[in-house]
Amino acid sequence: MRLAGKTAIVTGGARGLGEAYVRVLAEEGAHVVIADVLEDEGRALAADLVGQASFVRLEVTDQGQWRALLADVVTNHGAPYILINNAGVHSFGTVLEDTYTNWRRVQDINLNGPFLGINTVAPAMVAAGQGGVIINISSTCGIIGYGDQAAYVASKWATRGLTKAAAIDLAPHGIRVHVVVPGPFATPMTAPFHGVLTELVKSQPVQRIGDPAEAGRLIRYLVLDATYSTGSEFFIDGGAMTGVSLPDAAK
Ligand SMILES: NC(=O)c1ccc[n+]([C@@H]2O[C@H](COP(=O)([O-])OP(=O)(O)OC[C@H]3O[C@@H](n4cnc5c(N)ncnc54)[C@H](O)[C@@H]3O)[C@@H](O)[C@H]2O)c1
Repeated sequence: MRLAGKTAIVTGGARGLGEAYVRVLAEEGAHVVIADVLEDEGRALAADLVGQASFVRLEVTDQGQWRALLADVVTNHGAPYILINNAGVHSFGTVLEDTYTNWRRVQDINLNGPFLGINTVAPAMVAAGQGGVIINISSTCGIIGYGDQAAYVASKWATRGLTKAAAIDLAPHGIRVHVVVPGPFATPMTAPFHGVLTELVKSQPVQRIGDPAEAGRLIRYLVLDATYSTGSEFFIDGGAMTGVSLPDAAK
């Protein structure tokens, strides 16, 4: 219960990896605000966590909604100490096929959403004077390129840049900013291409798809114990970005 009395906001917290982050922060005693567009799932999760969580509908691309959420959180639970910018969408499409409309939609949710979160919430953290922790979520798609996912790849690279800039700007206020780099995890987002991931993980050192609870444990470490880190990237990818072994035929 090392987060008793603290308030956390988790965007996209209604399901998938975000749900794992909500659960781990609630276990540590924080009051967790699940901020998502999925109302039924968000309310059900909040009910399951009896008193440790509440749901607020948030479209992350809308700064008016961010401001309303912050006012609600400050009034009902106190200034936030933790912000996890987890909401995101995946998108297939090569640079030949993708449309500018889709490109902008993906950047708006995956990049502008985290910017709006920081831009709206960090001033309240600064005013509260207790420091804080902000965690953005990139992807292995933000470390190397992948074909047929141009908008997603670009948004996840940019998330790392936003993290570096925010870490420097907010360090004088005792606010740490981290970025998590997940590899393949079993969530509703990846369910439609589970077969592709099953093949993909055969080429990484830890040859399996990740369990969201494992990502939750990294979040717990970052929030509670990564006190001498900021702006850094934390990989949870089964070693995917480490490299590949040579096929037997090449030896
Ligand atoms: N699952 C993976 O393998 C994987 C790998 C690398 C990175 N990620 C990243 O982790 C994060 C979570 O992914 P996931 O797999 O749990 O996805 P998911 O689709 O299961 O969950 C994403 C959540 O974000 C919410 N969301 C989407 N758009 C939103 C918006 N505009 N406003 C508010 N909420 C919105 C959704 O409603 C959903 O609850 C994403 O940023 C994703 O890019 C996931």
